[in-house]
Amino acid sequence: MSSKTRALPLLFSALLFLIHINVSAAQTTVVKAAYWFPDSGQAVSTINSTLFTHLFCAFADLNSATYQVTISSTNLPQFSTFTQTVQQKNPNVKTLLSIGGGNSSPSTFAAMASQATRRKAFIDSSIKLARNYSFYGLDLDWEYPSSATEMTNLGSLLTEWRAAVVNESTTSGKTALLLTAAVFRNADYYSINYPFSSVSSSLDWINVMTYDFYGPSFAEGKTSTYPPAALYNGSTSLINGDAGIVSWINNAGISTKKIVIGVPFYGYAWKLLNPNNHGFFAPANGSAIGAYGDQGYNQIKDLISRGYQTVYNATVVSNYCYNGTTWIGYDDTQSISAKVSYAKGKALLGYFAWHTGADTTTWTLSQTAFSTWG
Ligand SMILES: *[C@@H]1O[C@H](CO)[C@@H](O)[C@H](O)[C@H]1NC(C)=O
Ligand SMILES: *[C@@H]1O[C@H](CO)[C@@H](O)[C@H](O)[C@H]1NC(C)=O
Ligand SMILES: *[C@@H]1O[C@H](CO)[C@@H](O)[C@H](O)[C@H]1NC(C)=O
Ligand SMILES: *[C@@H]1O[C@H](CO)[C@@H](O)[C@H](O)[C@H]1NC(C)=O
Ligand SMILES: *[C@@H]1O[C@H](CO)[C@@H](O)[C@H](O)[C@H]1NC(C)=O
Ligand SMILES: *[C@@H]1O[C@H](CO)[C@@H](O)[C@H](O)[C@H]1NC(C)=O
Ligand SMILES: *[C@@H]1O[C@H](CO)[C@@H](O)[C@H](O)[C@H]1NC(C)=O
Repeated sequence: MSSKTRALPLLFSALLFLIHINVSAAQTTVVKAAYWFPDSGQAVSTINSTLFTHLFCAFADLNSATYQVTISSTNLPQFSTFTQTVQQKNPNVKTLLSIGGGNSSPSTFAAMASQATRRKAFIDSSIKLARNYSFYGLDLDWEYPSSATEMTNLGSLLTEWRAAVVNESTTSGKTALLLTAAVFRNADYYSINYPFSSVSSSLDWINVMTYDFYGPSFAEGKTSTYPPAALYNGSTSLINGDAGIVSWINNAGISTKKIVIGVPFYGYAWKLLNPNNHGFFAPANGSAIGAYGDQGYNQIKDLISRGYQTVYNATVVSNYCYNGTTWIGYDDTQSISAKVSYAKGKALLGYFAWHTGADTTTWTLSQTAFSTWG
């Protein structure tokens, strides 16, 4: 074999190496993020984007006939200008278009992921949308793939999505779009594992939804109060954020540098049966406010300013407040700070909050999280 023919594969691998460098050059080193969504009523222009490295614009929709990603005409004015608007206060903030969400139909995602042509429709349309409106990335919020087949199909989707994003980056000469997914609190969805290897090799990171463990309208929570998003077990076994994060690290084998912990900027209000019994696990009867009891931190702070008693429990890492028969479990500055410190201690990539519109107008929780990470 002549040296000339041997140089060719070498040149080839050098080129591939350069392409690889180019793709990974955009590697994210820290994520201090939050989701914004239009139903909150918060104007995009009021977001204090200096407090975030990444902002998620939620949600784009999945068309159940074409399997293309679309932005509703109602959302288009705010979504199409989202990036330029939040970059006015912070030119370095990166935006991602989030697709799906808790109110979207999981069966439409399952149908999309089940066939190659449908996955391609999803993938190609999502990339076009992101580029057209200057987003830096795409976020999949399928809640939740719930069978082994759906998890396998999710794996195919992620692998093909990454390949398409790399291809688009190479042909356009632009930095590759970021790809992320919001995932269940545990690496398994009620014992059905996520497709670990494609999650690990195809996504820049996962947003682990370590909240919504208990609520007054959930099966667990109808008859007594609970910390809605504890970080740890207390004296009794609790669904907790640490157990979830540890499952993503140990069971799924996902690098801590691809794990972003979720923190709620909201809580849940229970109706106590006895106003004098107001700790965790106190007898209660469903929601005290509305059907679900969900209350934004800004609303909770307002109640506190009007006389609610407050407690922070550092063992489980949860705040609660109460007045009369109303009891609210939520995250205040102490819980947020403890969870962000936990994330740093575990060498996670960062944190994200749901959602910007629930913080106070002075950005109390966003500031706390931002400065706790440092
Ligand atoms: C791209 O944006 C323009 C307006 O800025 C719009 O007219 C067009 O339909 C968009 N295309 C896609 C694929 O979103
Ligand atoms: C790669 O990109 C080119 C140009 O955009 C496109 O024509 C082709 O279909 C893409 N291939 C894949 C596998 O996505
Ligand atoms: C925190 O909550 C747990 C409930 O799991 C309880 O056992 C513990 O006593 C509480 N700690 C304080 C300081 O109230
Ligand atoms: C704490 O939580 C874990 C996982 O959720 C559970 O397996 C364990 O038994 C709990 N420990 C205690 C002391 O409650
Ligand atoms: C709980 O509230 C429902 C009405 O919403 C009522 O019918 C029921 O008796 C209550 N249960 C208790 C234990 O108070
Ligand atoms: C607190 O509860 C009392 C009844 O125990 C009620 O009169 C008062 O309005 C409540 N305060 C607030 C801020 O809701
Ligand atoms: C936005 O955050 C920055 C950085 O912490 C702070 O200096 C500024 O006062 C905040 N603006 C508002 C309106 O809260």
